[in-house]
Order: sequence, then C-alpha cells, then structure tokens
Amino acid sequence: MAQTKLFSTVVIFLLIPFVAISAVFLTFQYFNISLFDNYTKTFFNQYAPRQEDEPTNISHIVFGISASVNTWPWRHHYIDLWWQPNVTRGFLWLDYEPHQNNDDTWPETSPPYKVSGDTSSFKYTGGPLRYQIRMSRVVKESFELGLENVRWFVMGDDDTVFFPENLVSVLSKYDHNEMYYIGGNSESVEQNEGNFFKMAYGGAGVAISYPLAMVLAKGFDECIERYAHLFGCDGRIMSCASEIGIHLTHELGFHQVDLRGNPYGFLAAHPISPLVTLHHLELVDPLFPTLNQADSIEKLFASYKMDPGRILQKSFCYDLRRNWSLSVSWGYSVELYPSLVNVGEMETPFRTMKTFTMRDGPFMFNTRPLSNDLCEKPLIYYVDQVDRISEGNTRSRYKRYDAVSGEVCASEQYAPALNISYVDILTYHFHIWAKAPRRQCCDVMDDGDVDGMKSVVQVKIRECHLFESVTPQ
Ligand SMILES: *[C@@H]1O[C@H](CO)[C@@H](O)[C@H](O)[C@H]1NC(C)=O
Ligand SMILES: *[C@@H]1O[C@H](CO)[C@@H](O)[C@H](O)[C@H]1NC(C)=O
Ligand SMILES: *[C@@H]1O[C@H](CO)[C@@H](O)[C@H](O)[C@H]1NC(C)=O
Ligand SMILES: *[C@@H]1O[C@H](CO)[C@@H](O)[C@H](O)[C@H]1NC(C)=O
Repeated sequence: MAQTKLFSTVVIFLLIPFVAISAVFLTFQYFNISLFDNYTKTFFNQYAPRQEDEPTNISHIVFGISASVNTWPWRHHYIDLWWQPNVTRGFLWLDYEPHQNNDDTWPETSPPYKVSGDTSSFKYTGGPLRYQIRMSRVVKESFELGLENVRWFVMGDDDTVFFPENLVSVLSKYDHNEMYYIGGNSESVEQNEGNFFKMAYGGAGVAISYPLAMVLAKGFDECIERYAHLFGCDGRIMSCASEIGIHLTHELGFHQVDLRGNPYGFLAAHPISPLVTLHHLELVDPLFPTLNQADSIEKLFASYKMDPGRILQKSFCYDLRRNWSLSVSWGYSVELYPSLVNVGEMETPFRTMKTFTMRDGPFMFNTRPLSNDLCEKPLIYYVDQVDRISEGNTRSRYKRYDAVSGEVCASEQYAPALNISYVDILTYHFHIWAKAPRRQCCDVMDDGDVDGMKSVVQVKIRECHLFESVTPQ
C-alpha cells in the first residue's frame, strides 16, 4: 500500500515538469516562435543522429586560406604544391576581386577564391596590419558558406605549406563532433611571450572542428570587437575560443617557423609526430644548401609524396663494427658521426638557426651548438632521390654535403667515414600513426663490406621489437 502511494507520488512529480515543458513548447509552436536559432538547428540537424562514422578523410576538411591579390602572384607556388584540385576543398580568401583580362580565367589548379567581407567598420588598435581582422573572419565566413559533410575547418596563410595526408592522420585522432581548437605555437620563446603561449599560430595552420566553428561563428564579430587591441588574427581566434571555454590542443607537426637563418637543426630533429605544415619559408635559408627555397620545398614535398607519414621522421642506429652512429631524418637528411653518440644527444636540434628577432635563443625546445670545427661535427647527407621499390616500400639515397670550401676533417677517425659518399635507406610499409607514437628502429646493413671499400652505407628502417632500445644492451 505504502509502496503504491510512493510510486504515484514519484510519477506525479515527474509528470509536472514534463507537462509544464510540453505546454511551453506547444505554445511556442502555436505562435510559430522558434525555440532554437539557426545555429542550434544546424547543430541538431547535423549531429542527431551523430554521423558515425567512416574515418576522417581529406574531403571532410575545408581549407580557408588567407591571401591577398598583391601577394598571390609570387606565393601561389606554395599552394600549388599541396593543393589537389577536386580533392582538397576550400577557398582562398582575397581582399578584393582580382583583376583579370577577359580571356584570363582563374587557374583550375589553384583553390577557388572568395572575396572577404568588408571589415572597415571593425575596431583595430593592435598595430599597422588591419587586414588581421579580415583574416580572423575566414573561420566565420567559411562556416557560413553552409558546406555539407564538413568535419574540420583548417585556416592557413598563403605561405603555409600543408602536408595534407598528415593533416588527415592527425585530425582523425579526434572526435570531430566535439569542440577542438588544434595547432602549434611559435618556436621562438620571445614570440610566444609577446603574443601567447597557448595560441595556435595562424601561419602554422589552425584546425577547428565543426561544432566549435559553429559556436565561434555565431558571436565572432561581437567577440573580435572586444579584442581590438590584439595584433594578430590568431590571437582573436584564440580569445574567442577561450570565451567559449576551449583551449588549444597542441599538435607537434604544425610549424609556424618563426625562425631565421639556417633551419637545418630544427628540421633534422622533428618530434615523433607527423609533419603537418611548414610556414614562413621566405624568412629562412633554403632547406637544402644546394638549392633555392622554391626548389627546396619541392624536393622535400617529393619525398613526402613517396611516404607521407614518414617525412622527417627520425631513426638512430649504430655500426658497431666501425663505431659509427647514424641519425636519420627520413626524406631529408642523415648525420653520420664517426663515433658512438647517445640518442639523447643526437635527437637534440643543432642550433643552426636564430629566433624570429635574430637571437641565439631561447627556443621552445633544447638545442646544442654546432661546432665550426669540422672534426667535431657529423658528416651530413641530404636526400638526393626517393624511389618506390614496391607498394609502400621505398629506397632513398642521401648524398654527402661538404663545406663549400671543400675542406674536410683530416683526422684518422674521420678518414673511413669520408669514403662514404652516400647513405641508402630502405623502408617497409605499415601504418606508423595508427598506434601510439614510437620512433622506428634501424639497422646498418653489413653487406660483406669488411674492408670499408664501399662508398655507400645501407640502412634499413623497421619497427622496433618490444624490448628493443636503440642502444645495444
Ligand atoms: C571520405 O569519406 C566519405 C564518408 O564520409 C566517403 O563518402 C568518401 O568517399 C571518402 N572520400 C575519400 C576521398 O576517401
Ligand atoms: C574537377 O572536376 C570537374 C568536374 O568533374 C572537371 O570538369 C575538372 O576538369 C576537374 N579539374 C581538375 C583540375 O581535375
Ligand atoms: C669501438 O669502441 C669500443 C669501446 O667503446 C672499443 O673497445 C673498440 O675497440 C672500438 N672499435 C673500433 C673498431 O674502433
Ligand atoms: C677508402 O676507399 C679506398 C678505395 O676506394 C680504399 O683504398 C681506402 O683504404 C679507404 N680508406 C679508408 C680509410 O677506409
């Protein structure tokens, strides 16, 4: 008896709010008042039921490239490198309609363009570059195009080189139905100090999941008025995401490249994470000492295409017969030390570069000096050619680069190593980034070369065994 009474009481108490809510809802319906605005409706249409889900692929990403009519003629070679017509989606956002002759149509091999909305009425007290407002609104304007099947909006500059396959492998780790703000900060501490440590730098590429783009877009114009004093477009996106409660998810493959001088040390010591972008290549020396910058980035991109996930990935191995150490940056360079050097040392970037304002540091990573004494530094080999030997397997050849003077270390220790003109590397296919990141191991192939007569060292890169450590125990 008592139980029945309790039960009825509970039912009545549950019914009251239900009836009340239904009454309000029906009243709104009756008078045709929308309970939900357009943004919320988009959200429910898109995510109820949640589209579960084939893995993320390139077609789910919409790029928004900030560009200008003036810089386009000499910067389009960066974009043409990675843009794949009918594969990559998105737009170049220009400051005004490009002037075209009658028979001069927009190239089919470049991204289609849009002209950004007028921003002259926005407050901007952050410096001389008012176009930063226009650039920050690319995320809003891209969202408002209402494109279908979009999981991510990815912003970049016209001098950002994307490595699209790696962008896909990074983004597919995250649930695009959640709010994510993904990118990388500056390599120079001074830049992060002057801007923000927790900001995704715009040129490095900024990935924003659909739900975050939707919420950002809604209040964006009001929000950026509150941050009129900030310098960059990227600070505005960070601040507005933070108002929503979303902070940066730092991914190690997004590179602003706030560096000057020779970027070798930085590139040859990539973290165990796929290379997603390189930016600011006009500010640093060519990536390869024998090429100009345009040819350099083409060369690196050619390696990338042969085995995208592997580009710049490190492996270390020893030749205990000769007491040599090798440090590989796949698709870019190999360092040969004619001595036994531990991994902790080899994986630390050489300080060949300067900070954004031409200082010796600090950087956001540890560095070590590169001696001027030829007998205190490794021999360096740069990639010469990459061939696919069968599906997923490659052979890449690296050629020694000696100082322009032609001088080499004359010590006895270096003599055998100086016979080595090339390093050849074999790799075998498997899905590197589908698992928790672990650096791959390598072996120096003996190849019967007991007298050290050969001019090539052969290296095989492979998955490490479970208990394997680079240093032989
Ligand atoms: C990407 O995934 C969608 C499913 O969401 C599929 O229809 C499409 O064919 C895929 N595209 C590519 C290029 O793999
Ligand atoms: C892209 O697709 C369209 C329509 O299918 C086609 O007409 C065009 O030639 C393609 N463009 C390129 C560069 O492949
Ligand atoms: C290699 O180094 C070890 C000690 O680290 C030494 O005993 C050995 O003789 C060296 N071998 C050669 C070929 O130099
Ligand atoms: C270098 O190679 C030549 C043959 O090409 C050989 O005669 C010489 O002994 C090698 N030098 C060293 C130090 O291994």
